Amino acid sequence: MTQSEKYFLEIKDLKKSFGTGEARQDVLRGVVFHVQKGEFCVLLGPSGSGKSTLLNIIGGIDTPDSGYVAINGDKLEDMDGGGRR
Ligand SMILES: Nc1ncnc2c1ncn2[C@@H]1O[C@H](COP(=O)(O)OP(=O)(O)OP(=O)(O)O)[C@@H](O)[C@H]1O
Ligand SMILES: [Mg+2]
Repeated sequence: MTQSEKYFLEIKDLKKSFGTGEARQDVLRGVVFHVQKGEFCVLLGPSGSGKSTLLNIIGGIDTPDSGYVAINGDKLEDMDGGGRR
């Protein structure tokens, strides 16, 4: 079992920006955290801080510019539609 496989949810160096040039907004700037199975986790932050952006990426609705989300050690980007590798 690798280090990452013991986490139910692992978020590593997640980055996401919207817009270009002057309008560019760096919303997620290298988010790192992990949640173990059974652990209780709360996502808090002011409006516009990127909570929905983060949840959309965790849920697979949106994709990050860089970094990854892994569930039980499997990166979302490597999964097919059924959640398998
Ligand atoms: N699809 C998008 N295109 C451009 N900008 C976006 C997009 N989605 C989010 N943003 C911007 O990213 C920032 C974070 O938005 P997000 O909706 O993730 O915040 P939030 O923490 O969920 O806010 P709230 O508490 O109001 O729901 C905001 O400045 C928002 O305008
Ligand atoms: Mg929101």
